[in-house]
Amino acid sequence: MMKKIIVANWKMNPATLQEAKQLFNSIKKSIKNIKNTEVVICPPFVYLPNIKSQISNIKLGSQDCFWENSSTNRGAFTGEISPSMLKNLGCQYVILGHSERKQHIGETDEMINKKVEVVLKNNLRAILCVGETKKEREAGQTKKVLKKQLEKCLKKIIGLSNRQLANLIIAYEPIWAIGPGGPCSVSEALENILFLKKIIARNFNQKIGKNISIIYGGSITSQNAFDFLKEKEINGVLVGSASLKADEFASITKQAQKI
Ligand code: PGA
Repeated sequence: MMKKIIVANWKMNPATLQEAKQLFNSIKKSIKNIKNTEVVICPPFVYLPNIKSQISNIKLGSQDCFWENSSTNRGAFTGEISPSMLKNLGCQYVILGHSERKQHIGETDEMINKKVEVVLKNNLRAILCVGETKKEREAGQTKKVLKKQLEKCLKKIIGLSNRQLANLIIAYEPIWAIGPGGPCSVSEALENILFLKKIIARNFNQKIGKNISIIYGGSITSQNAFDFLKEKEINGVLVGSASLKADEFASITKQAQKI
């Protein structure tokens, strides 16, 4: 069975470096004997150097990055962070296209597509988020929306090598299930994850479709994590608010050990 991937998305938390270090250290202590599970912590950019210095069996990720690797004749890109900067800091994973960035910052599928391409070309692992809104789900549009998002966000990577494509992870995050919305049922998540695997196989090849890791995100807690993780086709979970409590996150991580 493929290693389960447990990703902590801290979002814009915690408020201070001191708290970030504390949270990381408590998580590290609670999961020090974890085996056969990939644990990835994605703090805000500003905490990455401090967390890196304490890294052990936990991998480091960021919550976004820019689509150029350096200042070029296309621009100097004030405020942006490049994939090579992240790599230099020890990051191995980059979350891309989170729905909160689409909603509040106006990130488009075209921008996300460029980011996925540059991240994979830098041999970092891209965690591409896709998911439907409540309205789209209620209108019976989920599959149509997922297909469109996936095709648009992966357009520029069709020509990449199989080795580079192996670094692609998809996070199925139904937008209505993030935060207070409550989780999606396991059967619905599974159905959509299998659908995404089919689309990947159709756009790339059967092997990539079969081997791609697709994880679920949206209201994961220690109470429901096992139900998702026990499914062979759900390759892990992306955890938001529950990743800010060390005990809770450690408990989610330990659920993956029971499989
Ligand atoms: P949540 O967030 O676990 O707080 O629902 C998940 C996410 O947005 O990645």
